[in-house]
Amino acid sequence: MVTSALPYANGPLHIGQIAGAYLPADIYVRYKRMCGEDIKFICGSDEHGVPITLRAKKEGIDPQELVDKYHFLNKESFEKLGIDFDIYHRTSDPLHHETASEFFTTLHEKGVFFEKESEQYYDEEEEQFLADRYITGTCPNCAFERAYGDQCENCGISLSPKELINPKSALSGNDPVLRKTTHWYIPLDKLQKEFLGEWIESHKDDWKSNVYGQCKSWLDLGLHPRAVTRDLNWGVKVPLKKAEGKVLYVWFDAPIGYISATKALTDKWEDYWKDEETKLLHFIGKDNIVFHCLIFPAMLKVHGDYVMPENVPSNEFMNMEGEKISTSRNWAVWVHEYLEEFKGKEDVLRYVLCANMPETKDSDFTWKDYQAKNNNELVAILGNFINRTLVLCQKYFEGKVPSRMDSNDDLAKEISGFGKKVGDHIEHYHFRDALNEMMNLARLGNKYLTDKEPWKLIKESEEQTGHVLNVCLQIAANLAILIRPLLPGTSDKIGQILNFSLEKLSWKDIGSVDIVEAGQKINEPELLFQKVENDVIEAQIAKLDRSGLDSNDSKNNNNFKPMINFEDFSKLDIRIGTVVDAEKIEDADKLLKLTIDIGSEKRTIVSGIADQFKPEDIKGKQVSVLVNLEPRKLKGVESQGMVLLAEDDEGKMTFIVTDSKMKDGSVVS
Ligand code: MF3
Ligand code: ZN
Repeated sequence: MVTSALPYANGPLHIGQIAGAYLPADIYVRYKRMCGEDIKFICGSDEHGVPITLRAKKEGIDPQELVDKYHFLNKESFEKLGIDFDIYHRTSDPLHHETASEFFTTLHEKGVFFEKESEQYYDEEEEQFLADRYITGTCPNCAFERAYGDQCENCGISLSPKELINPKSALSGNDPVLRKTTHWYIPLDKLQKEFLGEWIESHKDDWKSNVYGQCKSWLDLGLHPRAVTRDLNWGVKVPLKKAEGKVLYVWFDAPIGYISATKALTDKWEDYWKDEETKLLHFIGKDNIVFHCLIFPAMLKVHGDYVMPENVPSNEFMNMEGEKISTSRNWAVWVHEYLEEFKGKEDVLRYVLCANMPETKDSDFTWKDYQAKNNNELVAILGNFINRTLVLCQKYFEGKVPSRMDSNDDLAKEISGFGKKVGDHIEHYHFRDALNEMMNLARLGNKYLTDKEPWKLIKESEEQTGHVLNVCLQIAANLAILIRPLLPGTSDKIGQILNFSLEKLSWKDIGSVDIVEAGQKINEPELLFQKVENDVIEAQIAKLDRSGLDSNDSKNNNNFKPMINFEDFSKLDIRIGTVVDAEKIEDADKLLKLTIDIGSEKRTIVSGIADQFKPEDIKGKQVSVLVNLEPRKLKGVESQGMVLLAEDDEGKMTFIVTDSKMKDGSVVS
């Protein structure tokens, strides 16, 4: 049983998610299937939780409408990218509600939970309790100003609303009040002592060290009881009479979604969840570790009927162009957009994401690197080998597979070595190494061609040339099997051109040098990969929306500049002045040359505001000017100070003005 984290259906998928939790799982599953294992691969939309309700509110639509939109969009993206789930289910499905509800009831009847009344934040205007992301405030750990009630995305620490400094309702911005409410808690502190601590320790050597390490630090801090219910109206209703108006905590119901999805898939679902022989694997990103390594296993264990995860191969994060990928700041490559704009290049994205997979540390996706990997690896190594082989075969043997002169046991052995190495890497979740090893077989093919020079050999011996090309065709056929978990579309294409059925072949066939039979006709060659030109990459880079990043974000939000003392501040000489003249500077789209009367004298100041203000609009305006800033030349004009402006996070600017007219030269302090 292989699962990939259920993505929230509150937005489109981005490449970081694919590289983190979906592509590795897909490669793993495809490989295991080729080894003949009985394997189910499960995913679906996570449709509850505050991110969904907040987004729906912002868009002014019903949560169901929101999740419908993104569920189908994301399902389609996965399909097109060849992420081959057996089912893509959803947690708003009645079957899931029933399954999650039963799960809760079982735990409740076993006396696992305790019930507790406590005071929680409440928004009086919105008449709502403020759990999780409904509340924001300053992180007590790192002072990030937009931490959520459940977690700080800046430092990653898990929080409860009461730990936030200066908490505010995310719905209204209001100061929350405290109100009493009752919830059900799972006693993770107790479960840590009973088995979780020991269980994690037992995986010290077989889990990835980033995963074990994070679990260990949670355990060292000591787990706390966690509420599994919430005062919300969107989610799975708590199946208790006295819990009117409450739903299950999204992180309680969502992982149960793996089970309900399996139920929806097959009547034999219990074979995959309750049989001791079942190996359960969760592929996730690092922000999900605590839920999949501690909380969900605790739930499974106390329930009693289910197997525990055998491994949780979590990845770190993928950045993009040096910045953290962010949905809210629109800093991402959206999968559905890529699929539209790069039709037929699904495998290229899979390849580049795998080559940069954040296996042990955060990685970075850049468009330049995308281009380089496509052009220098897929086109120049893999595509080139296959293409040369096919073209030569057409040219010298009219597209019929020539025969080989001997059985070539050494070659067979060498190729089967690749199957073993790639397989080992995949089994150990070393997908980047697996990719490199796949390419090594293509490199070997290229080298063989270059060494044997069939284009010269043909002048001497048709038989020997035939031998060489037969070997190349066998390598090509083996490559089709070897790359199949990573590049399924390309593998299919090679199979079609070489006229053999990959369906019938399995991983252990790697090394066979009789896949394509002598005398058999092969099809017209077709380029597997096309060069990506500069303009394509430049268009993508230009399309990136930097407006959400840049300095604004850090200035306007919590990343305040370091503390200064009064003396530092008093060094600034800020005066009121009047703009007496303003004109555009030639060859500089953004710059205006201002002449400003600061009482005692006139100053020339160059300001980067031409895209927002017309010269005639600002003539006569009173503004604030920093007058003791070192002069500097911009486009040949000496700027003798700086006009002060306020800028919002969308880049809109206004002047800092006084609320009534002042004498020019007045001091601001
Ligand atoms: N929706 C969560 C996220 O995107 C993942 C949920 S995984 C599950 O971070 F196990 F809860 F389903
Ligand atoms: Zn923090």
